[in-house]
Amino acid sequence: MADEQQKTGLRGLFVTFDGIDGSGKSTAIKKVARELVKRGYDVLLTREPTDSWLGDAVNRAIREQADPFVIAFAFMADRALHVNRIVKWLEEGKIVLCDRYVDSTYAYQAAHMEGFMEKPIEWLKAMHEPFALCPDITLLFDISPEDALARVQGREELIMFEKVEFLSKVGQNYLLLLEDNPVMARIDASKSITAVASDCLKKILERIQDNPE
Ligand code: ADP
Ligand code: TYD
Repeated sequence: MADEQQKTGLRGLFVTFDGIDGSGKSTAIKKVARELVKRGYDVLLTREPTDSWLGDAVNRAIREQADPFVIAFAFMADRALHVNRIVKWLEEGKIVLCDRYVDSTYAYQAAHMEGFMEKPIEWLKAMHEPFALCPDITLLFDISPEDALARVQGREELIMFEKVEFLSKVGQNYLLLLEDNPVMARIDASKSITAVASDCLKKILERIQDNPE
């Protein structure tokens, strides 16, 4: 995924939602999808890890607390399969809303690989270059790990990544990514559910108006 490639070049629009666990992505993406459908757009909701056998492998690797390289390769394999499906949806002219994408790997796996290798973000970006598709917009849900974790405390099982210290590193990585990604927009995820969804919708509609077909 070359840095200079700023849009997919396909008919649809590829929008990704990213941020730490509990930042409110899944809640917002559903509301945004409903609003776009109301306005007559053909919308496709998807997520990573996916619902494929490779997504199952990812979830198993996380559950079993596999080592950082196993987990990173599992996410990338799942994504490689997913990209083929995303390309088809974009060719059909859909607005594809994706809950987590490459930036999750850059932010989480880089934090997880700390101490295992130098410059993990650069390595992970280079690994994606031949196969990943660049989003048209990435909405980065920015919130403190304390506030985000307070939202998910009630979940039945918290996974290995859902700890304040780890999510602080992940959050810092996201902010580094924001600095040099022209298609990434920060969303203040500490606002109310309605305000967050409306900020996301606004960004997407602005992007559509800037580049009508
Ligand atoms: P994520 O998909 O980023 O992990 P979710 O959308 O599942 O986050 O939200 C985690 C929890 O926080 C859910 O219980 C959800 O209802 C709640 N929530 C989501 N967005 C907000 C918000 N803006 N303000 C307060 N609570 C929220
Ligand atoms: P997800 O089910 O989306 O979690 P949540 O709904 O809480 O945001 O993702 C599962 C976990 O996997 C989550 O902690 C984020 C992590 N993850 C990575 O570490 N790398 C990745 O590339 C992706 C897509 C997710």
